[in-house]
Order: sequence, then C-alpha cells, then structure tokens
Amino acid sequence: MHDATFADRACHETVTITENVRLARDTYRVRFECPTLAQRVTPGQFLMLRLHGSNDPILGRPLALYDTVLDASGKPTGVDVVYLVVGKFTSRLAQLGPGTKLETWGPLGNGFAPVATRHLIMVAGGIGQTPFMALGREALGLRQYGETERTVAGQKSRVTLCYGARSAEYLAGVDDFRALGMDVRVSTDDGSAGHKGLVTDLLRGVLDEEPPAGSQTATSQDPATQIVVCGPERMIEAVAHLAHERGVACRVSLETPMACGIGICFSCVTKVKDDNGEWDYRRTCVEGPVFDAEQLIF
Ligand SMILES: Cc1cc2nc3c(=O)[nH]c(=O)nc-3n(C[C@H](O)[C@H](O)[C@H](O)COP(=O)(O)OP(=O)(O)OC[C@H]3O[C@@H](n4cnc5c(N)ncnc54)[C@H](O)[C@@H]3O)c2cc1C
Ligand code: FES
Repeated sequence: MHDATFADRACHETVTITENVRLARDTYRVRFECPTLAQRVTPGQFLMLRLHGSNDPILGRPLALYDTVLDASGKPTGVDVVYLVVGKFTSRLAQLGPGTKLETWGPLGNGFAPVATRHLIMVAGGIGQTPFMALGREALGLRQYGETERTVAGQKSRVTLCYGARSAEYLAGVDDFRALGMDVRVSTDDGSAGHKGLVTDLLRGVLDEEPPAGSQTATSQDPATQIVVCGPERMIEAVAHLAHERGVACRVSLETPMACGIGICFSCVTKVKDDNGEWDYRRTCVEGPVFDAEQLIF
C-alpha cells in the first residue's frame, strides 16, 4: 500500500506531433494527439516529455499543460504545450516538425483544485504563463477539464493575468489570453511593452482596485479573491509576501527541476510547513506542483 499519488492515473504514450509553431522569441507551442491524456488532464497538471528513439537527454522534462485540443464534437483529443528554449531538450524539440514522434507520461501532479472565486488573479513571470491558459479558460466557464465535473456550480470568475517578461519579444500568447476575455496586464524589464518594471507592481495595482476585504463574501474554501502564481522563485516569493500582507489566498505552481516525475527519485523536494508549524520535504512532482503559498518555506 502507498499513499494515493497523482501519478497513479498517468499513462505512457508515443504520440505524433501535429504542430510545432513559434509564438515569441525562443518560445514555441507543440501540439500532439493523445486522447487518453487529454481527457484526464486538468489545469496545473504537467506531462513528462522525452524524445522518441533517443537517450539524449536521458531524463524526461516536465512541461505544463497549456490547453487541451478538442475535436469537432467537443471531445478532447490532443494537448498543447508551450515551451521556452533553454537547454538540450527544448532546443531539440524546437527542431521537430509535424509527423515526428515524442514519448509522453501524464497527466502528472496535483494541478489546481477548483475553487469558486469572484476574481482570479494569475501572476506569471518568464514562461510561467503556461499553466494559466487552461486555468483561466475554466474559471471563465468556457471549458471543462478532466473526467469528472470540476466547475463549482454557477460560478464564473473575473480573470486577470499579470504577465511579466524580459522584453516584448518574449511575450507569448497575450492575444490568446485576451481573446478569451481575460484582463491582461503586461510588464517588461526594459519597458518595450506595458509597464516598465516588475510584475509585482502590476499585482499591487490590481489589488488596490479590489473592494475592501470586509465588503466581500468569502470563506477560506471559496475566497472572494484568489492569486495563483508561477515563474522564477524570487518572483513567487515576492508575490507570496504581497498576498500575505493583503490577506489574499495564494496558490503557487512550482517549476522545481525533476528527474522521474512520478514520486520515486526525490530529486524534486521542496520545504513545506505542516499543521504543527514544523516543516518537512514534499515531492513537487506528486504532492505538487501546486502548493498553498502559506505552506512554503522560501
Ligand atoms: C511542473 C513543471 C512544469 C513546467 N512547465 C514548463 C512549461 O510549460 N514550459 C517551459 O518552457 N518550461 C516548463 N518547465 C521547466 C522545464 O521543465 C525546464 O526548463 C527543462 O529543464 C528544460 O529542459 P532542457 O533540456 O531544454 O534544459 P536543461 O538542459 O534541463 O536546462 C537548461 C538550463 O535551465 C536550468 N533549469 C532547468 N530546469 C530549471 C528550472 N525548473 N528552474 C530553473 N532553472 C532550470 C538549468 O540549470 C540549465 O541552466 C516546467 C517545470 C516543471 C517542474
Ligand atoms: S521527480 Fe522523482 S520524486 Fe519527484
């Protein structure tokens, strides 16, 4: 017997790439057919990808679900993954065209639990916007994910994306997020698009526009406003501090480097507080990658 982990429902498939297109500088969206995975996966979960017929690199690489792809009847038949070229695997993946095979394992990780919230504020830095396409689409009531009904009855959230990048040329998918009806606010380090400065400046502005805490109907399960964040660790830490200061619930999606992705190797551990205020290591691949910001020790 072992504790139920989110790797138990993962499947291995050899899949065929149908599209691999450039979205921004060094940033691509790869699409492949994988009906079983596409029907099971939920926002915030990830897949392990590996080249087909090659042991170089030997380890699979974790990449978040960007979105599912539906057939004409509305059934999920494939997935999109958006990736930044940083090293060996992603530079090789960027060279692959339609018809090439890939090895996939998934869906993996806990993903975002569905929470009824009036205003979902998604904060992304670098390539951290990738888990938020599906999450935002779900929160807007535009798509169901997974095998069981997840949406909280009648709930449709307002969705804001605060998205920070080095410069305008690295911004990927902004028009797609806007086309769904999300309020997208952009910051760049060099001021080439949106606000010149940090994504936390944008978040502070969005929080300043929120009604005072006492005027909102909220419970700890269904907060009136909720922040989700993904990106570089220092940015996550700054967002977690700001959320704590303002008393806003915050969930974090970590991009800890991983080897196995299924809970065996313990290469992905992060420090997490328990209910007694003590801490222990938790595996990001099976007990994450999504954690409550208040649980994390930075
Ligand atoms: C749950 C999860 C979801 C992810 N989703 C995405 C996604 O949707 N899109 C995307 O582009 N990337 C995502 N990543 C990160 C991606 O897995 C790594 O960037 C991956 O290592 C790239 O493989 P590579 O062989 O190209 O680079 P590698 O050769 O593995 O590494 C290249 C360089 O990046 C550094 N590096 C590798 N991984 C990380 C990391 N996690 N944090 C900081 N530095 C790192 C290395 O130290 C090295 O300098 C995710 C990671 C996790 C854990
Ligand atoms: S990556 Fe192996 S235990 Fe998490």
